[in-house]
Amino acid sequence: MMLGKTLGATLVALISLSSIVSTVTIQKPGLTQSQLSKTRAKQIKAAYRTSYQAYLKYATGHDALLPLSDGFADPFGGWGASVVDSLSTSFLMGHRDLYDQGVEYSKRIDFTKTSSSSISLFETNIRYLAGLISAYELGGKKEQKLIDQAKVVGDHLITGWLGTNPLPCNTLKWNNLATPDSCDSSGIAEAGTLILEMDRLSKYTGDQKYLQLATKSMKAIAQSKGVFPGLFPQVYDPTTGQPKDDYVTWGGGSDSFFEYLIKYAYLTGDDKSIWVNTWVDSVASSIQHLVEHPEQTQASQLTYLTDYSASNGGNLPRWSHLGCFAGGNWILGAKMIGNDAFDAYGQALTGACANTYTSSPSGIGPESFVFIGQGNNTNGITINDAAFYRQHGFDFEVTQYILRPEVMESVFYAYRTTGDTKWQDIAWAAWTSIYRNCLVKQNGALAALADVNSTSPTKLDDSESFLYAETFKYLYLIFADPSKVDLDRYVLNTEAHPFEIDQPGKGGYAAKKVDVRPVGEKAGKKENGVKKPSETKDVPMPMFSGLPGLNLPLGGGGNTLGNVLGWTKRDGLKKHRRGKTH
Ligand SMILES: *[C@@H]1O[C@H](CO)[C@@H](O)[C@H](O)[C@H]1NC(C)=O
Ligand SMILES: *[C@@H]1O[C@H](CO)[C@@H](O)[C@H](O)[C@H]1NC(C)=O
Repeated sequence: MMLGKTLGATLVALISLSSIVSTVTIQKPGLTQSQLSKTRAKQIKAAYRTSYQAYLKYATGHDALLPLSDGFADPFGGWGASVVDSLSTSFLMGHRDLYDQGVEYSKRIDFTKTSSSSISLFETNIRYLAGLISAYELGGKKEQKLIDQAKVVGDHLITGWLGTNPLPCNTLKWNNLATPDSCDSSGIAEAGTLILEMDRLSKYTGDQKYLQLATKSMKAIAQSKGVFPGLFPQVYDPTTGQPKDDYVTWGGGSDSFFEYLIKYAYLTGDDKSIWVNTWVDSVASSIQHLVEHPEQTQASQLTYLTDYSASNGGNLPRWSHLGCFAGGNWILGAKMIGNDAFDAYGQALTGACANTYTSSPSGIGPESFVFIGQGNNTNGITINDAAFYRQHGFDFEVTQYILRPEVMESVFYAYRTTGDTKWQDIAWAAWTSIYRNCLVKQNGALAALADVNSTSPTKLDDSESFLYAETFKYLYLIFADPSKVDLDRYVLNTEAHPFEIDQPGKGGYAAKKVDVRPVGEKAGKKENGVKKPSETKDVPMPMFSGLPGLNLPLGGGGNTLGNVLGWTKRDGLKKHRRGKTH
């Protein structure tokens, strides 16, 4: 009796203890796959297979299929980026034959040389290094050769850190390791999107040098003086680790630096280092300084992220497809630290990005969009279609769609954390629009689009490897059994390759408390920048690149949207670099 009572009391104590520890989960507990989802997942899985087989037929071993001409392109070293990038998706979808063939192919790639004159550290890291390591983990960690290959790639990538420089140069002379190129600037996305992959490479090779270098550059940025706490500008001096400009954005060129702050903490379970709190600062400062609601529109409830540059007049009311990953990232971090306000912002940002899809004549959102910011601020940006703007709260700016994933990426986080099927409905509408507009009938491939502001967009001869790595994966996972890439066990790199986290079930992450205004409420009066550009051509652009039809080398100089539109180049960017290009 006594014993029973004590045992009972102990059990009660144990249960309540474990319920404290386990109250923090990322995914909504008990989420299951509906019959409807099963059917939808199956359709996406089949379309992936057909589309990937078109790549195999016409472009096998090359980086990307040119879907209209049945040709190929080699912007990423020519090692077969689409093969390596597709491995984790093929595995997760249960296309075991495609995965096995891809692994065999990947084991035989000669990563010691390339016919490309320069290689992007960033792109090679997120596509190849992550693709190889993630395939190794998913396949049960049996194929040691995948790690050997990853090591060859990693040993080339670390030549980007010249001398004792804190930050690497992004452009690598792959074939000539002994004489690396120097550079006068590095972007924070390039220098700060390495730590997940390098950590895993160090873990599986037992050699700490990869992680040490990636940590050095990430820390240099995180410890530099931001424009606002946690909000670092885009361009850095690689020798000093100090900023060279004042342009703040969650879009291309900066994006995945912010993304990796919280994801690296999640990968390792480390909430003692600076990562979590630097990310908390980034989000809190973004809420204070970047979040705005569009003015002079019926859709003024939408929640947007602006860019910011004091030397260019302050807030720039423009957001991008690339920058739309932020909603999902804020949701993930919010769940980790149990911050409901951040979570609400993440959901709201995701909703605003989804609105660019649901409002668009093609059903697909654009590369970038603009709006009228707080206090009727346009900062040199023009709203062309006033009627559309009044109804939908944004106007198209760059109207291409190059099969990017970020809006569906955020919808994936919104769905997995809430279980609200409205997100699945949004994703299904997006998928049917993508399939209807992008499908190339004669070969089953999907092609980029020239203009999503149209009910029958013209296709472009472009289809990058992130279609297989990311876009198909996120769409599939929104409908798949939620135990696939369970967010309580995996973290996805910026190319959507899943890595196993070190401390599943860790529970709540320690983070400092911050006060932010509730979502939907306007910020106080904005501080103005020092200069108001009067002409559109002076408006600085975040870095979009990889857009087809530019006739500029991928990953090379000047491949920015600003150049395409004939706008002035950003200060301090002599040799232009790209951040997240997808
Ligand atoms: C913004 O413009 C609208 C419409 O022209 C006007 O009613 C409103 O007063 C303006 N707001 C500010 C802060 O200037
Ligand atoms: C979008 O399409 C409409 C209808 O064709 C057109 O009036 C408008 O100018 C377009 N917007 C942009 C930014 O291209």
